[in-house]
Amino acid sequence: MKDFQIELQTTADGSTTLYRPDMDEHYHSVKGALTESQHIFIDCGLRHLAKDSLRVLEIGFGTGLNALLSALQSDIRQHYHTLELYPLPKEIIDSTDYHKAVDNPQAPTLFAAIHAAEWNKAVRITPSFTLEKTECDYTDSTTLFPQGIDVVYFDAFAPEKQPEMWAEGPLRRIFDAMNPGGVLTTYCAKGEIRRRLQSIGFIVERLAGPPGGKREILRATKPQL
Ligand SMILES: C[S@@+](CC[C@H](N)C(=O)[O-])C[C@H]1O[C@@H](n2cnc3c(N)ncnc32)[C@H](O)[C@@H]1O
Repeated sequence: MKDFQIELQTTADGSTTLYRPDMDEHYHSVKGALTESQHIFIDCGLRHLAKDSLRVLEIGFGTGLNALLSALQSDIRQHYHTLELYPLPKEIIDSTDYHKAVDNPQAPTLFAAIHAAEWNKAVRITPSFTLEKTECDYTDSTTLFPQGIDVVYFDAFAPEKQPEMWAEGPLRRIFDAMNPGGVLTTYCAKGEIRRRLQSIGFIVERLAGPPGGKREILRATKPQL
């Protein structure tokens, strides 16, 4: 891990998140980490497509909360690719307690398996969930993206803090890697980001945000051919 401090904080729905003081940035919404992930990425992204088999691409693996919530959707067969530049040490992951906060008896085993999975390799976590964690810089133009992506969880730190993550070049590479009809969801509803996604070719909708959280979020769909 790069040399930075991490603090554990409790969010409004009782679930935890991590805070990076050097960036003044949280890994999830302080208005409810679990509620945010479930709403934006699972309900508005993964479940919106109503396919029984798909490829997910996550930008920013972080704590693995989105991966855990996805793995619990066992009726959808998933190949889950996630990119992360700064994998977190086990003691920080263990402090998040997501395996207890998620109300599902499978959660502790799944969360442990997700974090034990080797990096830079496809690992079968359950019969319906294969995980591929890649340690890389998403903004580096030489990073190879997986292709044939159906759902993108765009979960980078905020554009004010890491503008390079939201730049046109890498977003266009995501668009090119997606299947027609595929969707990208993000918590960021800024007009500038919405217009950038539209200029790349996405059809962009503003959706209601999570209960108690942000007013709006974005879902961008790659048009059918
Ligand atoms: C908002 S957090 C992601 C939260 C995560 N999805 C979760 O469920 O906990 C953003 C993540 O992007 C990662 N990141 C920052 N710069 C990156 C880069 N250039 N390439 C890949 N990941 C990066 C951060 O280390 C952090 O884990």
